[in-house]
Amino acid sequence: MAKIAVLGYGVVGSGTVEVFYKNKENLEKKAGEPLDIKYILDVRDFPNSPYADKFVKDFDVILNDPEVTVIAEVIGGLKFSYGYVKSALEAGKSVVTSNKELVAAKGAELLQIAKDKNVNFFFEASVGGGIPIIKPIHACLEANEIDEIAGILNGTTNFILTKMIREGMDFGEALKIAQELGYAEHDPTADVEGIDACRKICILASLAFGRHVYPENVHTEGITKVTLSDVEYVESYGAKIKLIGCARREDNDEISIGVFPAVIKDESQLAGVNDVFNAILVRGDATGDVVFYGKGAGKLPTASAVVSDIVSAVKHSDTSRSLTWQDSTQDFIRPFDRFDCAHYIRISANDDSAVKETVKNIFGDVQFLVTKNQSKGELAFVTSVMTEQEVKTKCDDVAKQGAEVTARIRVLDY
Ligand code: HSE
Repeated sequence: MAKIAVLGYGVVGSGTVEVFYKNKENLEKKAGEPLDIKYILDVRDFPNSPYADKFVKDFDVILNDPEVTVIAEVIGGLKFSYGYVKSALEAGKSVVTSNKELVAAKGAELLQIAKDKNVNFFFEASVGGGIPIIKPIHACLEANEIDEIAGILNGTTNFILTKMIREGMDFGEALKIAQELGYAEHDPTADVEGIDACRKICILASLAFGRHVYPENVHTEGITKVTLSDVEYVESYGAKIKLIGCARREDNDEISIGVFPAVIKDESQLAGVNDVFNAILVRGDATGDVVFYGKGAGKLPTASAVVSDIVSAVKHSDTSRSLTWQDSTQDFIRPFDRFDCAHYIRISANDDSAVKETVKNIFGDVQFLVTKNQSKGELAFVTSVMTEQEVKTKCDDVAKQGAEVTARIRVLDY
C-alpha cells in the first residue's frame, strides 16, 4: 500500500483529491498496488469535507511519517513549497508538483537532490495543465535534437485574448471570468504580464536543451498593451495575436528565448487555439513539428497531470526516473537584441502619405495593412525579418521624422 500526502487544498489540491478517489480502483491497477491519501495539508479547516480526518496543519507530521512515500505539492509559490519539497526529497520521499514557479526557480537543485536520494521529482502539471508535455519531451521525443519549442502556455491570457477578439469584451471583465473559473494565478499579474508563461517556457527549454534557464534571464512581455485596434489590423493580415513563449536552438551552442504577444498567421496550428486551451509546438530534428493541445488550466485538467505523476512515482518507487538537466551559468542565452523575426508596426503621424514614403525608405520592403476603422494619420505595416536591435533603430529613425510608433508586435512563423 502506497500512502500519499497532498500539500494544499486549493483549486488544484481539491481537484487532485477528487480525481484520485473518483478513479482510485483504476489507479491502483495501474500502480500495481493499493493506494491511499493519508494526509492533506492546509492551514484552513474543512470540517464538512468527506476527507476531514485527513487534514493536518503541520508539515512535520507528514515529513516524519515513514509510511508516506509520495507527496503532491500543489500549494504554489515558493514561500512554503520550496522548503517542504526540498526536505521531502532529502527525507527520501518522491515529490510531484504542479508548481511552475518552484520548478522554474529551483528545478536543477531539486532534480539533483532527487537523483542523489534515488527518488522521483515529477512536474507534468507545471506546464500545459492537463496536456502531457513533460513526459513526451523527456521520454517519447528523446531520439530527437529539439530545435525549437513554441507555445501558448497561459490559459488565462488566451482566454482573455479570445474574449477580446471574438466578443469585443473588455480586458477587466474577461480577467474576472478567468479568475472565477479558477484559471488565473492568485495574483493575476503573473498571467497578464507573461510571468507565468515565462516560467513554463523556462521549464520546457531546460528540459529540451539540458541546462537550467532562469526566468530572470528571459525577455518577458505580457498582453496588457494589446489593443482592439491591433487585433483588427492583424486580422486584415490573416492572423491572430497570441501570447507566445518560445525557445530555439541557435548556432554557437546558444539559445534564443522569450515571451511576448506575437502575430501568428491563421494557417498556423497555434492561431486556432482559443479560450483556456494551450498548445505547444515541439520541432524535433527527426519528427519535424509535433503539436500538443488541450486545456492548459483549471481544476480537473491540472489534477489529471498531478494524479498521473503520483501513479508514476508509486510505480517507479525503487528507481530514480527523474527527468534531469544541469544547473548552468546563463551565458548560453543569446541577448534578446539579436532575436530576429518580422514585425507588425503601427504608427501615427499628421501626414500619412508622406510618412508612408518615410517608412518605405527606412524599413524597405513592407506590407501595409488596411482596416475599416483606420484612423486618419495612422499606418500599420509588417516588415521583413530583422533583429530586435535593427527594428529598434529603425523605429527611432521613424520617430525622428515626426511619427509616433504606437505599437510593435513580433510576427512569428510557425
Ligand atoms: N494561471 C495559469 C494559466 C494556470 O492561466 O495558465 C495554469 O498554469
